[in-house]
Amino acid sequence: MQILESSSAVQQALTPLRAKNKTIAFVPTMGNLHEGHLSLVQRAKQEADIVIVSIFVNPLQFGEGEDLDKYPRTMKDDQEKLKQEQVDFLFTPTVDDIYPHGMANQTQVSVPNLGSFHCGSSRPGHFDGVTTVVNKLFNIVQPQIAVFGEKDFQQLAIIRKMVSDLCMPVSIIGAATGRAEDGLALSSRNQYLSPEQRLIAPQLNQVIQQTKKALANGEKITLLEQQARDKLDQHGFKVDYFNIVDADTLDDVNLRSREIVILAAAFLGTPRLIDNQTCPLNPKAI
Ligand code: PAF
Repeated sequence: MQILESSSAVQQALTPLRAKNKTIAFVPTMGNLHEGHLSLVQRAKQEADIVIVSIFVNPLQFGEGEDLDKYPRTMKDDQEKLKQEQVDFLFTPTVDDIYPHGMANQTQVSVPNLGSFHCGSSRPGHFDGVTTVVNKLFNIVQPQIAVFGEKDFQQLAIIRKMVSDLCMPVSIIGAATGRAEDGLALSSRNQYLSPEQRLIAPQLNQVIQQTKKALANGEKITLLEQQARDKLDQHGFKVDYFNIVDADTLDDVNLRSREIVILAAAFLGTPRLIDNQTCPLNPKAI
């Protein structure tokens, strides 16, 4: 695995491969890699000749009170894991490389509507930070394919919309959420759960799965959302949101909704866990 520390190093390494018609798949990350990230890498390997992963803790997507400095940086471990996966290139830019004129002077990419609710309302500006950095990383790496996790369902929807709206020549692949045996979605934040909280954490997915079954039976969406929030409260979560919405618009479900998605975010102490589940629409549920 070759480590590329700057945008110009990426150009030098990838230009000759592009000239040889090699396909390039890209997996952007913020590091602190776990099995979930590695499954994205494995998917990328299936899809292309060359795999490049980036590790960049993007300050632009952190809001006030979200502790950028405390974000775990585990570069040595991450490098070992990526070597084991036989990744071809690791791109590790600095903040100055990505934002040479400072973040305040950075042109931003903002996807309207999709970013305004769910995680967007709890984390103002977060998705603009994500789309801006992903746009820049795509322009540097110029991959044909990029792989993102379905765990961040709203992020994935926003990135797909950005790529479509801006006619960006990259195919976006959503890879299934990696889960622990008890169903907990894999996340860097799980390491901050106490042993007691770790026992409670799988309830988030369990409540989502119970809601999915009730939706299939045609139980009413508004009622199910409230019941789910109450159940999670009782388990000891502080619910940020539990919303059942149209999977394309992420807005209210209607009779034209092709598919629906249950989106949930909840705090267990300090860690904020998110998870989701798509399901077909039973019109009786509206
Ligand atoms: O999902 C993430 O880890 C980040 O939001 C991403 C896509 C790497 C952009 O910084």
